Amino acid sequence: MNKVVRQSSRGVTKATTRNETAAAVAESASAEPRMQYRFAAWKDARWNSFDRQRERYEAIKPYLGSNAVGAEIGVYKGGFGEFLLPHCRKLYLVDPWYRLGGYWQSGIPNDSRAETVIEILSVYKSEINAGQVEVIVDYGASFLAGMRDRWFDFLYLDGSHNYEQTKKDLAQALPKMKSGGAVVGDDYDPDPASNQHGVFRAVNEFVAGHGFSLTLNRSRQWGFRVP
Ligand SMILES: C[S@@+](CC[C@H](N)C(=O)[O-])C[C@H]1O[C@@H](n2cnc3c(N)ncnc32)[C@H](O)[C@@H]1O
Repeated sequence: MNKVVRQSSRGVTKATTRNETAAAVAESASAEPRMQYRFAAWKDARWNSFDRQRERYEAIKPYLGSNAVGAEIGVYKGGFGEFLLPHCRKLYLVDPWYRLGGYWQSGIPNDSRAETVIEILSVYKSEINAGQVEVIVDYGASFLAGMRDRWFDFLYLDGSHNYEQTKKDLAQALPKMKSGGAVVGDDYDPDPASNQHGVFRAVNEFVAGHGFSLTLNRSRQWGFRVP
């Protein structure tokens, strides 16, 4: 029997059978926002487990708002989008996947291939048909360049993790943000030996260069609001 993970407003998660799910839905009927996790969390890599995704979500949640227009740049297998979705009237899931060439750095076969996109399209099918979700096979900077100015309430940057690319993503992102919107992201790593340290450098330089304040630095998540 398929398993579904549900989260209540108190952040409690339950892996249930589909029969148990009806009771969980009724129990959390008043929960806002409510999310449904339709991916096989327990099979994913440890760095991207359901619990790790939930921890990241708890850190960025104050920046997501409600009824938002948002995008996740760097989507991987798509599970984190489930956390973002309840906050959004429109959510773009953006990743080059197979265009990146094979798979991403995780070393897990099938992680950034066409099969991944097919599964994501399948899981988000009803939201895609309703116009709430768009799945975009593209690089973050290229996608952002094509969007209208002052369109986004939030962006979650979790793509290349490379210094130069992160700088480009940030530069493209800024004019696309509404005033008061939030740019947040993953893997803010102060360790110069880390292969994700480029994010730390690029974000710090960007924030300082624009006179912004980094207001989120928790659970390796970073973020700032655009004045
Ligand atoms: C760390 S994973 C994303 C994890 C995902 N956000 C999550 O929370 O489950 C990084 C992803 O970024 C994608 N990626 C690499 N370079 C990118 C770029 N320039 N723009 C957007 N995505 C990129 C990779 O294909 C990979 O799937």
